[in-house]
Amino acid sequence: MLNAIGLQNVGIDTFVREKVPFLAQLETPVVVNFFGNTLEEYIQVADKLSAIDVVAAVELNISCPNVKQGGIVFGTEPCAAAQVVSEVRRCLDKPLIVKLTPNVTDITVMARAVEEAGADIICCINTLTGMSVDIHSQRLRLANGTGGLSGPAIKPVALRMVHQVVQAVSLPVIGVGGIMTAEDALEFLLVGAQAVQVGTANLINPGTMAEIVDGIGQFCCQKNIVDIQDWIGSLKA
Ligand SMILES: Cc1cc2nc3c(=O)[nH]c(=O)nc-3n(C[C@H](O)[C@H](O)[C@H](O)COP(=O)(O)O)c2cc1C
Repeated sequence: MLNAIGLQNVGIDTFVREKVPFLAQLETPVVVNFFGNTLEEYIQVADKLSAIDVVAAVELNISCPNVKQGGIVFGTEPCAAAQVVSEVRRCLDKPLIVKLTPNVTDITVMARAVEEAGADIICCINTLTGMSVDIHSQRLRLANGTGGLSGPAIKPVALRMVHQVVQAVSLPVIGVGGIMTAEDALEFLLVGAQAVQVGTANLINPGTMAEIVDGIGQFCCQKNIVDIQDWIGSLKA
């Protein structure tokens, strides 16, 4: 999937007013992913999220351009990434997940930078920058020019990066990118991810998550895996 929807959302204040009361009724821990266009915006939103009891953890999306610094993406520059992580860390008393962009030369450099800056958990990966053109109209297919590539096409890249990051840092890693089935999820766990996330697959089948959970359970029964930790990171050399 190639999307350029931007980071469409209602904004933090409407989120607090209109979405939080619904989320508070759920028995599931709520993790909120957020972003900013400037360092100050990141801090303001983190501050507001910090005050919401129902928010169990926050996930910091650093795949965004810093509009005050020529549009350089926070997550592609180790110093900028470390700065936003440490500033958010200072105003947040909840577990902090930092989500990395794959659009970098060496993901382990970014992983180490955010670990040192105070991340509790690393999530990788966000979408890969892609592009599509139409040979009939000879135009770009996305008005924005480029978009974020996700889904099965990116799974091998995501798997490779999760494997690299697991080796590079001592933080828990959440794997995401192209997971459609329980087998895909088990692959990420095998290379060392402690948990997985599913994005695109939900747009095709909203029941995907439940099917993946069931499938992992079945696999563990078949293989006599009593504790999933015995499977996590058990990749053989
Ligand atoms: C429609 C769409 C919206 C997304 N919005 C966000 C977002 O708001 N914040 C974020 O960190 N990642 C966002 N992502 C990235 C996904 O969370 C995920 O990292 C990426 O799509 C790879 O996983 P997948 O192949 O399972 O979709 C979005 C992806 C898609 C397809």
